Amino acid sequence: MSDRWYENAVVYCLDIDSFADSDGDGCGDIRGLIGRLDYLARLGVTCLWLNPIHPSPGRDDGYDASDFYNVDPRFGSLGDFAELLHEAGNRGIKVIIDLVVNHTSDQHPWFQSARSSPESPYRDWYVWSETAPPDRNQGMVFPGEQNETWSYDRTAKLWFYHRFYKFQPDLNIKNPAVREEIKKICSFWLQLGVAGFRMDAVPFIIEETEPGNPNSPKDMNFLSELRQHVQWRRGDAVLLAEANVEPDQLVRFFGDEGGSGNRIHMLFDFMLNARLVLGLAREDTEPIIDALRDSPKLPEGGQWATFLRNHDEIDLSRLTADQRQDVFARFGPDEDMQLYGRGIRRRLAPMLGNDRRWLELAYALQFSLRGTPVLRYGEEIGMGDDLSLKGRDAIRTPMQWSMLPSGGFTSADPSKLGRPVISGGEFGFEKVNVTVQRQDPRSLLSWFERMIRTLKEAPEIGRGTCTHVDVPAPRGVLVHRADAATGTMVFVHNLGTEPAVVDLGSLAEEAELPNDVLADQEYPEPGKLDEIRVEGHGYRWIRLRRTA
Ligand code: NOJ
Repeated sequence: MSDRWYENAVVYCLDIDSFADSDGDGCGDIRGLIGRLDYLARLGVTCLWLNPIHPSPGRDDGYDASDFYNVDPRFGSLGDFAELLHEAGNRGIKVIIDLVVNHTSDQHPWFQSARSSPESPYRDWYVWSETAPPDRNQGMVFPGEQNETWSYDRTAKLWFYHRFYKFQPDLNIKNPAVREEIKKICSFWLQLGVAGFRMDAVPFIIEETEPGNPNSPKDMNFLSELRQHVQWRRGDAVLLAEANVEPDQLVRFFGDEGGSGNRIHMLFDFMLNARLVLGLAREDTEPIIDALRDSPKLPEGGQWATFLRNHDEIDLSRLTADQRQDVFARFGPDEDMQLYGRGIRRRLAPMLGNDRRWLELAYALQFSLRGTPVLRYGEEIGMGDDLSLKGRDAIRTPMQWSMLPSGGFTSADPSKLGRPVISGGEFGFEKVNVTVQRQDPRSLLSWFERMIRTLKEAPEIGRGTCTHVDVPAPRGVLVHRADAATGTMVFVHNLGTEPAVVDLGSLAEEAELPNDVLADQEYPEPGKLDEIRVEGHGYRWIRLRRTA
């Protein structure tokens, strides 16, 4: 038995403002989300990850908080939030929230006070320099939209550091008062009942920024401190971190190499994400096999979070220029589909030509690979994107619930919506919505429900080891296995469009009564392992053995 609930969780990520509007003001809210919890429970979601919920000027979709101890009044009240936690808990759904403490909004009272006077108690909560740092044009995260990482503040008459946009001044992690405040923020939300945090920008939080030093030291100990604090307050709370760093740096975020996992519990697997997308683009399993082989051994309790799509661009920066070019050519050929020169701002359905078989293959593959799967809202019904919107907004359009006006998202006049609902054409709410798909057992939504149910019967995926099975197979066919105390699963996924045959006869000795628990179609002779067939874009999840 394991208490590590996150190892077998199904995480669903959503923006409250785009999910469901209960009061008709055009902005999604907490009560709207509460009204959709049964939908999420039926889908099989066990953990909600809410994108930032705090009051914010909203210049980076909430990733610029102006008060860490409240919810954005557009979403409702703290009372509504407590109600959400209760209602979600009733359905066995845990809730984690974005913890964005690398920086605040420049409108946050701490920054306003800090800039106003050298005597301010908050002055030292931010990172200042009296002179223009020579490295101020280095390390930008948003090329094209951000020109510097140090800007001059006329009120303070000092330069301040901002890893992200200029309106997001970095907090000074070297200051013990800042560290204590971050812990207090965690305590507050844990006390209300959240199950943990998706920690934003972790490599930058721990950066002990020194003006003029583009490679400032990092204080990993803060992560251990925070982990200890969080765990004392709620034993089963989880930290899920965004740390898109070089592969050889990753393990340290979980804990000291060779030591115990005493820092972050879960890390998004950005490397696997990029390689998965490359594999799909090239119809070649090599990048995925490489990713599985190269991923470091994690300390006990450390876990990957896998994803195909998140709320930002698909980040291809860790691919080589050639690899990135191949992905762009296949999935984002127009400049308009690309972002920051490194990523794609499209949803998966349009990227894969709205090809149902290809979509199933892609998601079956993601959900079968080691770790905990994370699903972005709307992907389960194959929502599209709106490239006429700026930057990342393209994939942040309202959830499409029904054929009612505005897709059933809101009763407000469409002119009141922050981002319009996608309407008309292949991806419009008239065609792509929950209500239509719920009634159709062959819909993508019904498929997701089935696939997630199957995942729950295969705890080996989340909890076990995941290895590539080296049998002779065409370039496009990936065979991998998951092993745990509960048994063994074998998976065959065909990234190519041609049918293929693979010989799994070498696994026969281990098999009890092999059978397909999930497949793109019914295959003949389910008990057979040698010379098994898989259609183009087909997949087979085969239970080999159950021991517990
Ligand atoms: C990462 C978030 O995912 C992204 O949306 C945000 O812009 C930056 N961190 C800054 O907070």
